[in-house]
Amino acid sequence: MEGIIALRSLAGGFRQSRILFTANNLRIFDLLNKPKSAKATAAKLGTDLRATSILLDALVSMGLIKKDGSLYENLPVSSKYLQSGRPEYQGDIISHFDTLWNNWSSLDTVVKTGKPNRTAANHDSFIRGMHNLSVFKAKYIIDAIGLTDVTTAIDIGGGPGTYAIELARRGVDVTLFDRPDTIAIAKEYAGGLANVTFMEGDFLVDTIGKGYDLAFISQVFHSYTPAENIRLIKKVKKSLNKNGRIAVQEFFIEDNMSEPLEGALFAVNMLVNTEGGRCYSVNEMQSWLNKAGLTSVTTSRLNEAVIITARAAG
Ligand SMILES: C[S@@+](CC[C@H](N)C(=O)[O-])C[C@H]1O[C@@H](n2cnc3c(N)ncnc32)[C@H](O)[C@@H]1O
Repeated sequence: MEGIIALRSLAGGFRQSRILFTANNLRIFDLLNKPKSAKATAAKLGTDLRATSILLDALVSMGLIKKDGSLYENLPVSSKYLQSGRPEYQGDIISHFDTLWNNWSSLDTVVKTGKPNRTAANHDSFIRGMHNLSVFKAKYIIDAIGLTDVTTAIDIGGGPGTYAIELARRGVDVTLFDRPDTIAIAKEYAGGLANVTFMEGDFLVDTIGKGYDLAFISQVFHSYTPAENIRLIKKVKKSLNKNGRIAVQEFFIEDNMSEPLEGALFAVNMLVNTEGGRCYSVNEMQSWLNKAGLTSVTTSRLNEAVIITARAAG
């Protein structure tokens, strides 16, 4: 019986995701920073009253808002993470998950053909969502890398610039390399910092400059094939100063490719959304770094992430 209940809960998991996506899209949590009735909420949103009441009651049941008489209001978890403008806001990554929902809906076809389905895309919520995720970990990830020998750095595929900001705050002159549409967003987050420079292009084909003590490659490898990643590592190595380092951050997955669950699920996400990406094990990534001629490979596991650093011998 227990097995059946777990199975049904697995099959029905989509319901709570969908309710959260819709509430987030409608910005219900911005509205419920003060107690409001379903009628007032529907009037403000321009939504149907019966539908809004049912959605709000489900959000109460899910533990995201509370209901006192006829009035609904955020619980602390929603005020902290789901109300826009809060420092630890998660609404962009939730919105990105909603985009992924559309692409994942073609998983049957993706598995039959081996081809991705990236028909839905929202670059803005993807890149801002990266900030939602890394805002919690930038400090301890940079601590783990260590900066004693670093005055210049490049953040390869730096996204919104969360790590570049952390590096810059610690006195490093950092170049954030990314595609033009991402750089436009990164400038909003990191544009005010004098020691952050922006470089636009495709890191697989364009020049990335040189003279770096550290090249940070965070959450980039999983979108590409092993051959593309080795090519990127070789290119990045050439951009380093003598004794410079590459630091890689990726989601952790064991050699068996099934543990932890988050890593295995993320691999499916890459199957759905990229031509040749997936989650890579530490051994796979270390072998690429060694193949590219880097030495002194060190690894640290930090929650769901793994950091691998390797040095370009002089
Ligand atoms: C998953 S995000 C990671 C962002 C950031 N490094 C982090 O860890 O939060 C991957 C980033 O790499 C960038 N990117 C992917 N392929 C790229 C390419 N060929 N050239 C330049 N940027 C690329 C994307 O635009 C995106 O900003």
